[in-house]
Amino acid sequence: MSHSNTKKGILRYTWWARTNHWVVAISFVLLVLSGLALFHPFFWSFTGLFGGPIPTRFIHPWIGVVMSLFFLLLAVQFFKESFIKRHDIQWLKQIRDVLSNRDEKLPPVGKNNAGQKLVYWIMVACVPVLLVTGIIIWRPYFADAMPLWLLRFAVMVHAYTAFLAIITLIIHIYSGIWVKGSIRAMVQGRVSKAWAKHHHNLWYEEVMKERNPPSADKDDDSSRQQQSP
Ligand code: HEM
Repeated sequence: MSHSNTKKGILRYTWWARTNHWVVAISFVLLVLSGLALFHPFFWSFTGLFGGPIPTRFIHPWIGVVMSLFFLLLAVQFFKESFIKRHDIQWLKQIRDVLSNRDEKLPPVGKNNAGQKLVYWIMVACVPVLLVTGIIIWRPYFADAMPLWLLRFAVMVHAYTAFLAIITLIIHIYSGIWVKGSIRAMVQGRVSKAWAKHHHNLWYEEVMKERNPPSADKDDDSSRQQQSP
């Protein structure tokens, strides 16, 4: 069943993880477009994408519910690999090296780097807040039953949280394009060994260890240097 052991490349995202990710991504973009259209007249023309202002108002919360459900599934899948470790803190401290492409100076990286993990945790914080505040202000189902102060508070929190999520998404998309091969990883699922070794060294080693269990302890040590600082 597992295809992660073929000689060609390494499986980074399963079929389900990729489908799940792109459902979240597409619904998120639709949420941003419809949400902005509702937020400010400057974006009014976006209502055209959804068949006019009334359908936009109607569809936005429903897309939010779909996105939240799929995001929950995505968040569960990526949970374990998203814990911030000590080498991640070091990576963040060296963010200048990251941004200047001085990769050789960076500490080794696991399946995800600290930036990716932060995206994960920011979204894990934002999505439930967006969902809960969105439900509170959802007319005609819930909003009418809410006190005015709560509605005002929820609208404000909804907007600020959406702003944070949008900025995070922009950084996320930008990084995905910047680190060549990432988009392909999320589309096709596989990455080359060279890519894995270069960008996610510790993960590469783990995968290699799984492929060649340490039974014959013939290690030539060539893959261990990155353990040292
Ligand atoms: C058009 C929008 C999006 C694009 C182009 C995009 C692109 C990508 C790419 C290329 C990766 C793989 C990175 C790698 O393996 O190195 C990835 C991973 C991921 N994406 Fe997205 N994404 C989008 C939207 C979203 C949204 C809306 C969320 C969550 C709300 C999300 C959550 C994640 C998570 C949790 C991962 C795994 C960890 C990480 O690489 O950050 N993505 N995405």
